[in-house]
Amino acid sequence: MLQNIRMKKILAVCLLFGLSGLIYSFSYQEQDEYKQRNYFDVKCNCYVHEVYFPSGKLFISEQFSDSAIQNKNGKSIYFYETGDTADVTIFVDGKMDGYSFHKSSNGTIGVERFYSIDRLDSLKYYDEEGKLTVVTIYLNEKKEEYDVSRLVKYYPNGNDLVFTEYYERNKNKPKITIIDSLLYMRLLDSLANRSGKELFVANCSSCHTPYKDATGPKLVGVTKRRSDKWIRSWVRNSAKMIANGDKQAVALYSEWHKTAMTSFPDLSKEDMNKLMEYLASL
Ligand code: HEC
Repeated sequence: MLQNIRMKKILAVCLLFGLSGLIYSFSYQEQDEYKQRNYFDVKCNCYVHEVYFPSGKLFISEQFSDSAIQNKNGKSIYFYETGDTADVTIFVDGKMDGYSFHKSSNGTIGVERFYSIDRLDSLKYYDEEGKLTVVTIYLNEKKEEYDVSRLVKYYPNGNDLVFTEYYERNKNKPKITIIDSLLYMRLLDSLANRSGKELFVANCSSCHTPYKDATGPKLVGVTKRRSDKWIRSWVRNSAKMIANGDKQAVALYSEWHKTAMTSFPDLSKEDMNKLMEYLASL
């Protein structure tokens, strides 16, 4: 139960900060197929709680000095099925502390997170070649407060700071400051010319793969299962459809253990058209 609460908390943090990738996908996994083991390890003088993939490979190892279940002082480590470390988080008195990271499946660090006792101070994102691309600095006014102002710095070519976004607390629209206008224009061009597949990879692939269920359902054939209008409105704001009682939306949501999909209210019409074409091509 406690573990569940912690999961929900991590989930909320991830959602709020758009860090919706891997950790998020852990939350809905059915426990049944995933064998678990608890023991005390004399080597680390700690309680260990382990979860295994259905294949038998180690999936989660939680190592805590207090008890395996309470997750107070120690760390949690998530693994890929290949055996590579995926994610490490350190806990002090039940709160995330210090430094944690998430590795991409190719082994390079994808995200680094810096905490001071349960307060996320900053995030650093890297591309697959290990180049720093985005830095998010949380301007925490209060401890335990997740909805805080933040400054996001973009280094799209891994070198130069091209622009920053300042999000004021509780606001969705950032104030953009352009540092290098030439590179900024180039970036806008490349963003405007993204194909449906590129849009899918950038926005959807953290939760969906075309042919295999992941955090969200596989999307092959979805344009035959659902109407064009339904998919567009779902992608723009699934929470609203669920709240409005759309039957298919409500059923889908409960089928997926009430895992919330990110909303994309700001996708342009052209990008949505490209995404729909891509989905239809699967
Ligand atoms: C944070 C994870 C997440 C992201 C990111 C995400 N989805 Fe989803 N998606 C889900 C989940 C989970 C569901 C299942 C319904 C639910 O629980 O909300 C879903 C359902 C869907 C469905 C309905 C599938 C069906 O079988 O009817 C479509 C279509 C869809 N997503 C498209 C997209 C597209 C397109 C993007 C990117 C623009 C996207 N999703 C991004 C998690 C995500």
